[in-house]
Order: sequence, then structure tokens, then C-alpha cells
Amino acid sequence: MPVIAVTKERRAGETRVAATPETVKKLIGAGFSVVVEAGAGGAANFVDADYEAAGATLARDLKEAVGQADILFKVRAPVDEEIAALKTGAIVAATLNPYQEKDALQALAAQGATAFAMEFVPRITRAQVMDVLSSQANLAGYRAVIEAAEAYGKALPMMMTAAGTVAAAKVFIMGVGVAGLQAIATARRMGAVVTATDVRPATKEQVESLGAKFLAVEDEEFKNAQTEGGYAKEMSAEYQAKQAELVSSHIAKQDIVITTALIPGRPAPRLVSAAHVASMKPGSVIVDLAVEQGGNVEGAKLGEVAQTANGVKILGRPNLPGRIAADASALYARNLFAFAGLFLDKEGKLAPDYEDEILKAALVTKDGAVVHPNLKS
Ligand code: NAI
Repeated sequence: MPVIAVTKERRAGETRVAATPETVKKLIGAGFSVVVEAGAGGAANFVDADYEAAGATLARDLKEAVGQADILFKVRAPVDEEIAALKTGAIVAATLNPYQEKDALQALAAQGATAFAMEFVPRITRAQVMDVLSSQANLAGYRAVIEAAEAYGKALPMMMTAAGTVAAAKVFIMGVGVAGLQAIATARRMGAVVTATDVRPATKEQVESLGAKFLAVEDEEFKNAQTEGGYAKEMSAEYQAKQAELVSSHIAKQDIVITTALIPGRPAPRLVSAAHVASMKPGSVIVDLAVEQGGNVEGAKLGEVAQTANGVKILGRPNLPGRIAADASALYARNLFAFAGLFLDKEGKLAPDYEDEILKAALVTKDGAVVHPNLKS
């Protein structure tokens, strides 16, 4: 039986885990055996006894877990000690952040690992159940609103009380992908007045269907801003100038701004300038969800709450899914369970079909080399 190992996440601030007792049970049912490092799920409130009850074997430490693994499941890229413990040819499935964490990629290649970057799973119908970007971005969008509400010194919903009326907060969501849509829905549920912007025309209807107002520069370039893969293109300098102009008058009136704009493989687009921030009222809150990719907001600092001279807070918290670790782990673990199904042949033997379009798209290292076309230098 192929052995899957699950270890504690060792990257700073990572609270999620790559398997839950629920998915351990399912993996065993599918023909794997599972080894879990003691304490692996602790930060997400999954306890060792539940993993054992689900059929996993507990390993005392990382070496004992990884040393016997045919497959290593991780949330983030394994650290050097884990990579060194891998058997040659062992499979690794994780969000490897391959454009940025090149050292881990090289180390996985050097160890002879067969590594899959879960971010590269294509967004085709068959792979929806394995789509870690969506499962995590959805929770990040939700969590961004919670973080903003916590940092904001006022209420989000309108309240009419005997002591007078509390005004509803105005929330502006910039970038309406998976995270942005959930942020809109969450802010609406909390009673805020929500507006949103994006460069992809398809988002207009989605925003309006959630009861929010859409705002964008809707010129010829906007009409063609979506790639075949459903992502945004990098917009021209002229478009960006028009966008900044439109945003200027709007942003000054907002209480909370949540930015989520990304372009795959490129630095995040700069959407909010220092002048925009300076135009906002004291007490306003900005959450920059793109802070790990360079940030959408001027002045956002990774891992910090930046306080501007005019009393605006800019939250640059990394890893928002990690701040809702139990649900984020549960969904991520189900994504990996579905992905693991691709490793087995009809007889249940470990025999990944490297011609399968999902595995082909996600494969980043094999037989001692970095093999993904986007990553070869
Ligand atoms: P993402 O995380 O790459 O980007 C977030 C958002 O930022 C996108 O909506 C993008 O258009 C927007 N953006 C980029 N540049 C911008 C700018 N200058 N100004 C304003 N907004 C800007 O996107 P995500 O969340 O990964 O979704 C991308 C697409 O993939 C969407 O069309 C989504 O519906 C689609 N999708 C398809 C799935 C499937 O078919 N299996 C699953 C999940 C998403």
C-alpha cells in the first residue's frame, strides 16, 4: 500500500495541516496507508487521537514520518530537513509557491522528488474539487472582512436605536475573483453598503448579483481584459491612470477597502496610492490581501498593521486562510484527497499517469530536475 505522510507545517506562522481525520479515513478507504507526525494538526485543532481513530499511524517526529513516505502531503513547501528525509522519487504535493520559493524547488529536484505545485492545477471542471486556490481564497475573502471589522472602530450594519442611528459602513472591494466575491458576500451579510471593482467584464454581473454596486473604467481595453484561462491581463499604463482617477473620488468616501487583485506570475498591480490613502477619513481600514505578492496598496507592510499620519490602518497580514485554520485545513485536505486519486491505477497501485492533463500541469520537479516550462531558467 502506498504510504502518505503528513507532517507538521514548519514555515513561520503556518497553522494549517494537509490532512484531517476525515480525509485520513477517506485516503485509507481509497487504498493508501497514512502516517501522521504527532501534533501535526494541533494548530488547527485536530488532535492525534482523532487521526489514530481514523486509521493513521502516528510518527514521533518528522524523520520517522517522511522516511517511510511514498507521498508527502504538505500545506506549504517542505523545509530542508523534510526534503532531506525524502526517499528518492517520493511524491510531494503542496502549495509550493514556485515563482517565489525557488530554493525549495531546487532542493526538491536535487533530492529526486516528484513534486506537484497545487497552485498549478488547471481550472478545468474535472479539477474543481482539487482547486486549492479557490478553496483557500474563498476563506481569505471572508476572513479579510472579519479582520477589517475588528480593526474598524465602528459598526458595519446600520442600526436604528433610541439613542440615534448608527450609519452603515461603506466597504469597497477591489479585485473580484474568488476572494473578492466572498468578501462582498460577507460584508453584505454584515450589513455594509458594498461597492466593487475589477478589470474583467464578467465580474460586473457577479458583483450585482450579490447586491453590490459595480464601478470600473469600462472602455475597449476592459472589454478584452480577461484571458482565455479566466484571469486578468496586466493593464496598460493609460488604463491604470484612468482607473486611479475613478478610484480617487470613490475611495475618499469609503470606510473599509479590501484589495485582492492578482495577475498570475506577475507582481500584484498597484491599485491604491499613498494619495488615495491620504484622502481617506481617520479610522478607515484597508486590508491588502495581495501583500505577499508585492501588495495592491502603497504603504502596506507584510505582517504589519501600518498606521498612516491621517489615522488610516493598512492591514498587511499574510496567510489569512491560516487565521481560519480548521476550515481552511478541512477544505485543503479534501482538495489533496481528490488529487491523490490521480496517483493510483485501476488496480490501486501507485502509478501516476504523467500524461493526465492535471498532473502534467502541476508537476514541477521530477528525476532530479525542475521540469515545469514556466519555471525552467
Ligand atoms: P486572482 O486571484 O488571480 O485575481 C483576483 C482578481 O483580481 C481577479 O478577479 C482579477 O481580475 C482582479 N484584478 C487583476 N488586476 C486587476 C486590476 N488592475 N484592477 C482590478 N482588479 C484586478 O483571481 P481568482 O480569484 O483566482 O479568479 C480568477 C478567475 O478564475 C475568475 O474568473 C474565476 O471565476 C475563475 N475561476 C474558475 C474556476 C473553475 O472554473 N474551476 C475556479 C475558480 C476560479
